[in-house]
Amino acid sequence: MNAVLSGPLVPAIVQESLGQIDLADPLFHTSSNQHRVFKLLRDFDPVHWNEDGTEPGFWSVTRYEDYVAVQKDGKSFSSAYTNVLGPQRRTGDEGSGRMLTHTDPPRHTDLRQLVNKAFTPRAVAGLEPYVRSVVGRALDEAVEVGECDFVEVVSLLPVASIAALLGVPESDWRLLLTLTTAAFGSADQEFRAAANADARATAAQAHAQLLLYCQDLMRQRGCDPKDDLVTALVQARDAGRLSEEDAMLFFDLLLLGGNETTRHGAVGSLLALVEFPQEWERLRADRDLLPGAVNELLRWVSPSKHVLRRAVRDVELKGRLIETGQDVVVWHHSANRDERVFDAPDRLDLGRSPNPHLALGAGAHFCLGSALATLELRAFLDELCDRVAAATVTEEPERLASSVINGFKRVRVELKPL
Ligand code: HEM
Repeated sequence: MNAVLSGPLVPAIVQESLGQIDLADPLFHTSSNQHRVFKLLRDFDPVHWNEDGTEPGFWSVTRYEDYVAVQKDGKSFSSAYTNVLGPQRRTGDEGSGRMLTHTDPPRHTDLRQLVNKAFTPRAVAGLEPYVRSVVGRALDEAVEVGECDFVEVVSLLPVASIAALLGVPESDWRLLLTLTTAAFGSADQEFRAAANADARATAAQAHAQLLLYCQDLMRQRGCDPKDDLVTALVQARDAGRLSEEDAMLFFDLLLLGGNETTRHGAVGSLLALVEFPQEWERLRADRDLLPGAVNELLRWVSPSKHVLRRAVRDVELKGRLIETGQDVVVWHHSANRDERVFDAPDRLDLGRSPNPHLALGAGAHFCLGSALATLELRAFLDELCDRVAAATVTEEPERLASSVINGFKRVRVELKPL
């Protein structure tokens, strides 16, 4: 059992109700009052011990300052086992200790250096015309149809963007979207747990096809190098810095890392603009607000809900003793609404400044694709403001049952053209 050195004074009734909450339960994340629960945790038990059914318990960190403390303390907290909640906490991941997200320095620094150059704001700027045309076409079609599922409308945006950076030809983007969706499915954890043997076999087959596609592209780039990411992976492999398998894991990670996060970032942004129509009008009238608007919408939506670290030595945080081997989960979703840092955190303010949000992480693992993600969301918002006057949500949106991604299964909306 964990030693409590000097916990905050928690009223018994609050303590009892917080003790019943399981933040690892995907169903908790379908509830609309989760921000109220996170506020209680921030106020009364900011470093909270969460029992986790059949899995070992873990610490939940909900305040901004503690989030940053954990993310910046790479000596005490490791990423090398896994970086999200789930059964892989016991079993380890395929990528544990090998894939960028699942490594610590010096391996992590090495891997990041291989691809950093491709992700700078300058390097991704060239993609803007593609990104705009992809999102513009999707919005045109959606406006024409009238009522649509917005989760579908923005589905090609992230895959096309990362595919362009990897060097996948445009004619294969749809194929990549189909294979990625079939292989990794929805972020809905309930849906995944319920998947039957057939569904799992189909997913495995799609993943195998994706890896074969990657191998084939690597072969082509080996003979005919280009200025793209797959060529960078091939060169790293040939220089002995990556094995063939690690290069393929990298391909997987890059495809996945920016997919659901950006997609649900765009969907959540639309819903936020529907909720705050005056902010939508403000943005339409003043596009200089776009960079700040992207940051505020990232803070608001926090598409990635949490990341996980494992303590590799005993550490004290807010009077709690975190023991070696225990897992610590830091919640972007909560830190980004911390009233100790953000004025009126439950108000969307597209002009908010400063806005030190944590939606893209902090510390060594800060989002590699941050420049790409912000470019995509900026293009999305700009194209949306050019075309759509307002949107009406026509059915109650159904949230994803996921502690990892803040998103929706379906968002039926009617778009009103300008
Ligand atoms: C709105 C969109 C996005 C959000 C909210 C987001 C969020 C995050 C967060 C919170 C992390 C930190 C993970 C950790 O601390 O363990 C991260 C890392 C990462 N992101 Fe993103 N991301 C987004 C888009 C993208 C895109 C477009 C890519 C492109 C490939 C990408 C690739 C990555 C990679 C490879 C990492 C791992 C970095 C490392 O471990 O050093 N992300 N992202």
